[in-house]
Amino acid sequence: KKVLLIHGPNLNLTGQREPGIYGSDTLAAINAEVVAKCERLGMSCAVFQSNVEGALIDRIHAAREDCAAIIINAGAYTHYSYALRDAIASVRLPCVEVHMSNVHAREEFRHKSVIGPVCAGVIAGFGKHSYLLAVDAVKAIIG
Ligand code: DQA
Repeated sequence: KKVLLIHGPNLNLTGQREPGIYGSDTLAAINAEVVAKCERLGMSCAVFQSNVEGALIDRIHAAREDCAAIIINAGAYTHYSYALRDAIASVRLPCVEVHMSNVHAREEFRHKSVIGPVCAGVIAGFGKHSYLLAVDAVKAIIG
């Protein structure tokens, strides 16, 4: 079974961007760990990052073809993109929402997720481990 790992805006700069909040591991290094963990658990993993809302939506739609679940860090789109929310609801694949930082301990605007209600669950606050824990979550859902 294939898992789609999606990263939204600014996450391409992970490792350089606000390292006090997001850590110093690059996105490529995190992706490699996630792919390896998926494979250890008998799943494959495709990775996609975009800073463009429509490109994220197109990738979610394409996941209908061959993916069994989605892990998504939608970045700031989490907090206001109804279009992304509707895309997730439209494909009816189980989706795990991820944040590296503890969004609830940060600014008020980060406390709300508009994608949360259409996701199976949320993991936030554990840095790169949020993604690795999401792989366990997906495994528990899709087996
Ligand atoms: C983030 C939290 C968001 O509020 C922020 O806009 C991000 C990253 C996280 O991983 O902690 O870009 O999703």
